Amino acid sequence: MQKTMIFVLFAILSILPTVATSLRDTLTTSSPLNDGETLISAGGAFALGFFSPNSSSSKRYVAIWYHNISSHDVVWVANTRSPVAGSGGSLALTSNGTLLVFDHKNTTIWSSPSTGKTPTGTAINPTAQLLDTGNLIVRDDVFGNNYVWQSFDHPSNTMLAGMFIGWDRRTRLNRNLTSWASPTDPSPGEYTTAINLSGVPQVIVTQGHSVFFRGGPMIGNRLVGMPETPNYAVITVTFVTTTEEVGYYFEPAVNNVMSMLRLNSNGTGQRFVWIDPPGQWSLFSESPQDRCDEFSLCGPFGICNAYESPSCRCLYGFRPKNPPRWVLRDARDGCIRNKTLDCRNGTGTDGFVTVSGVKLPDTSAAVADSSLGSEECKARCLKNCSCTAYSLAGAAGGGSGCIIWAGELNDMRFFPTGGSELFVRVAATDASGTVSSQYNHKGKRIIAIVVPLIGCLLIGCILISCLIAYHNKKKERTRRYHKENDEMASDNDIDLPFYDFETIVEATNNFSEENKLGEGGFGPVYKGKKRDGKEIAVKRLSKSSKQGANEFKNEVMSIAKLQHRNLVLLLGCCIQRHERMLIYEYMPNKSLDTFLFDKEKKVLLNWKMRYNIIIGIARGLLYLHQDSAVRIIHRDLKASNILLNQEMEPKISDFGLARIFRGDDTKSETKRVVGTYGYMSPEYVMEGIFSVKSDVFSYGVIILEIISNRRNTSSPSQSNNHLIDRAWILWNEGKAIELVDESISNSFPIIEVLRCIKVGLLCVQEYTNDRPLMSSVILMLTSGTEVLPEPKRPGFVSRGYSFEEDHSSSIKQGVESINEVSLTILDGR
Ligand SMILES: *[C@@H]1O[C@H](CO)[C@@H](O)[C@H](O)[C@H]1NC(C)=O
Ligand SMILES: *[C@@H]1O[C@H](CO)[C@@H](O)[C@H](O)[C@H]1NC(C)=O
Ligand SMILES: *[C@@H]1O[C@H](CO)[C@@H](O)[C@H](O)[C@H]1NC(C)=O
Ligand SMILES: *[C@@H]1O[C@H](CO)[C@@H](O)[C@H](O)[C@H]1NC(C)=O
Ligand SMILES: *[C@@H]1O[C@H](CO)[C@@H](O)[C@H](O)[C@H]1NC(C)=O
Ligand SMILES: *[C@@H]1O[C@H](CO)[C@@H](O)[C@H](O)[C@H]1NC(C)=O
Ligand SMILES: *[C@@H]1O[C@H](CO)[C@@H](O)[C@H](O)[C@H]1NC(C)=O
Ligand SMILES: *[C@@H]1O[C@H](CO)[C@@H](O)[C@H](O)[C@H]1NC(C)=O
Ligand SMILES: *[C@@H]1O[C@H](CO)[C@@H](O)[C@H](O)[C@H]1NC(C)=O
Ligand SMILES: *[C@@H]1O[C@H](CO)[C@@H](O)[C@H](O)[C@H]1NC(C)=O
Repeated sequence: MQKTMIFVLFAILSILPTVATSLRDTLTTSSPLNDGETLISAGGAFALGFFSPNSSSSKRYVAIWYHNISSHDVVWVANTRSPVAGSGGSLALTSNGTLLVFDHKNTTIWSSPSTGKTPTGTAINPTAQLLDTGNLIVRDDVFGNNYVWQSFDHPSNTMLAGMFIGWDRRTRLNRNLTSWASPTDPSPGEYTTAINLSGVPQVIVTQGHSVFFRGGPMIGNRLVGMPETPNYAVITVTFVTTTEEVGYYFEPAVNNVMSMLRLNSNGTGQRFVWIDPPGQWSLFSESPQDRCDEFSLCGPFGICNAYESPSCRCLYGFRPKNPPRWVLRDARDGCIRNKTLDCRNGTGTDGFVTVSGVKLPDTSAAVADSSLGSEECKARCLKNCSCTAYSLAGAAGGGSGCIIWAGELNDMRFFPTGGSELFVRVAATDASGTVSSQYNHKGKRIIAIVVPLIGCLLIGCILISCLIAYHNKKKERTRRYHKENDEMASDNDIDLPFYDFETIVEATNNFSEENKLGEGGFGPVYKGKKRDGKEIAVKRLSKSSKQGANEFKNEVMSIAKLQHRNLVLLLGCCIQRHERMLIYEYMPNKSLDTFLFDKEKKVLLNWKMRYNIIIGIARGLLYLHQDSAVRIIHRDLKASNILLNQEMEPKISDFGLARIFRGDDTKSETKRVVGTYGYMSPEYVMEGIFSVKSDVFSYGVIILEIISNRRNTSSPSQSNNHLIDRAWILWNEGKAIELVDESISNSFPIIEVLRCIKVGLLCVQEYTNDRPLMSSVILMLTSGTEVLPEPKRPGFVSRGYSFEEDHSSSIKQGVESINEVSLTILDGR
């Protein structure tokens, strides 16, 4: 904020003098640039001039900044180490092609570092020009149109499209990013992003002399430490590894999208795109992204998993080197072998274990040989006693092919998606049980085709038998009803205020039509106003209601004890001979579906509200699933069961079908599949199996409905889960943003919306194991930098439309481990 102010102030100051002189983008030997003047690139994208990052300091720097957007971020600073004291400085071009910065006494403060390209004393008529890419180049007639010097070869803390970070091996020119000392001090800070050429070249962020974050080697089209690189969509990163050059650059994938990468003074690397409207930088990736990115957190032969607690474990065949410290969660000492290697010359008595979905270990002492195939690579490793692991990661991506590690394996972590495969050498006896973190669904897939058929038949049968049974039971039910009511009214289990029937009659104006709010599944709901003026909602269960005594008691008991801002509050109940009623707090904005699916009301929901609703439902659900005293599965989560209060805060309601689990049960089966089609998960509809993951499925449907303003209506017989289908198709075609309803399509943060769509798709995945728990969902939604796994095929997608699924990199996320993650997160806050 302060920075913008400075820029605005400066912009005003700097415009005044420049208006007089005409706008120019070129500096010649005869026309130096004085403090107060600016060069503007031809298209107006960038400006060059003097600036002060700290308004209360007189230090002036020559810099390039964005010109035609509202955020005038500085992207390059010339004299980082030697500011001009006070105004009166100037930038000049000498006749030999060197740029010089003078202070008011004509003392040279800074001169452009030589690139090795400028032959001394041979310049003819040099000119310096600021380009629309943000590059300041010096041209010289000797070289014709080629530049002799460019600012892109001497980056500050910002990488722009077209800039190359890395080495020119011929000239030994090393282009790296150096952070500012602080956001208001452009002098060189502690952090540097550079390519380190030792071993297999890799991207390293150093802090002083130690490694802060390892981006890792470039394999195929990605960095091993940032597997999401190819999925950026908005930019394309290109890695170059030739005998002449090693490094990378990026280009916008879409024309005219402005993007930049900045190394902040705290060491984080942030990648932004400019989104207009609303006219702001949108962060689309950040590194390091979690604690597993801390360099070698788990020590040699240790591996980090951000979804587990403790997050460090030893590779298979290894044990902690220092168990007491390991137990105390200090894993720096890493792990040692259980059994020493045999390592006879080339006879191959040792074996390998496969580790999948991993960030390949530090390659600073590794060697790569792209000519070796998988068997040769393995043989090469077995032959050399110092070899500890190999990988073929480069082979597929056209990268380095076989990589062989010697000695310790450092800085490994699991990625939910996009990791590589590593073969770790262990004693032959340990290798027999190969561990891999992958799991596959091949067996399940057959079931998934057969089960729907059986499922449909089953449901048909159930419906018919229900109809027959219904008539017989009707009479008996009325009799039993009265008996149950009497029992319940004297039930000590129900720990809730009882309301008089008369009070309710008075409050609801004798259940008048005007007071009727709607018709729920189990009877009408009325608005009431008590004598004290407090508004209430009364759910009057019809006598013929399917909600029997058990459901009623269940609802009362499950929610009487629940208190959470995202759950509707039960105030009391009323049980009298003919009546069963539940009294809730009144929600003036009714339910979510009344907004989403109404042409006029939907425009009232802006993205911020929708996002809050998405998060709020998740919090309420997490509370039901994990944080309340008992585990509760709602079983009928849908847009019409999400109520909105005055502030549009969502509240989950209607617990008539909720199931309570005590102890460790997490899953149950029922013969009575009840719920709402369109929101029910496949395993529940087909097999009657429900678990917290069935609620997660319904939640995913709600997210998609909130974004698209479309209903996911469907019946099990027709495959018209239009919404899920559509979302899945658009997602795979890279056009997910088209899912967004026009009522919000004016201004919203694309990255946030895409993240929500992705989470929605993750929640509606066909297989329960693939769906995240609500704790992970909240983490995914609220931590803008968490890498999300790629969604697999959702349940109920039309069978004709399928995509090749890639299970190779999925990591097993046991229920327990995820629970622990949520605990550690809560602890951490
Ligand atoms: C800024 O200038 C560049 C180069 O002319 C142009 O591509 C871009 O669209 C402009 N941006 C705005 C916001 O005017
Ligand atoms: C700005 O400069 C003044 C004077 O040099 C210094 O005292 C102050 O700490 C600086 N402010 C910031 C935010 O760096
Ligand atoms: C600085 O140099 C310019 C031109 O070379 C000259 O006009 C000016 O008088 C000099 N200023 C001082 C303080 O020496
Ligand atoms: C260019 O000229 C400046 C002064 O005019 C001098 O200091 C510098 O050494 C020269 N550079 C080369 C490469 O000749
Ligand atoms: C970054 O580049 C500068 C200039 O080429 C060089 O002196 C420095 O050693 C480099 N730092 C790293 C970590 O590569
Ligand atoms: C590259 O990494 C190695 C090993 O970590 C280190 O010794 C060396 O100094 C690094 N090189 C540069 C230029 O930073
Ligand atoms: C680092 O600084 C950037 C920019 O100032 C900020 O957005 C980010 O949250 C900071 N990260 C940490 C971990 O402090
Ligand atoms: C290695 O040793 C540890 C502790 O001695 C043991 O828990 C682990 O199961 C062993 N692993 C293998 C693969 O033998
Ligand atoms: C290893 O075996 C190869 C042939 O299998 C032989 O040529 C080589 O000399 C042996 N090396 C050692 C160190 O024994
Ligand atoms: C074994 O590997 C190490 C490290 O890669 C290497 O220095 C050594 O030359 C290799 N030895 C043989 C016999 O290939």
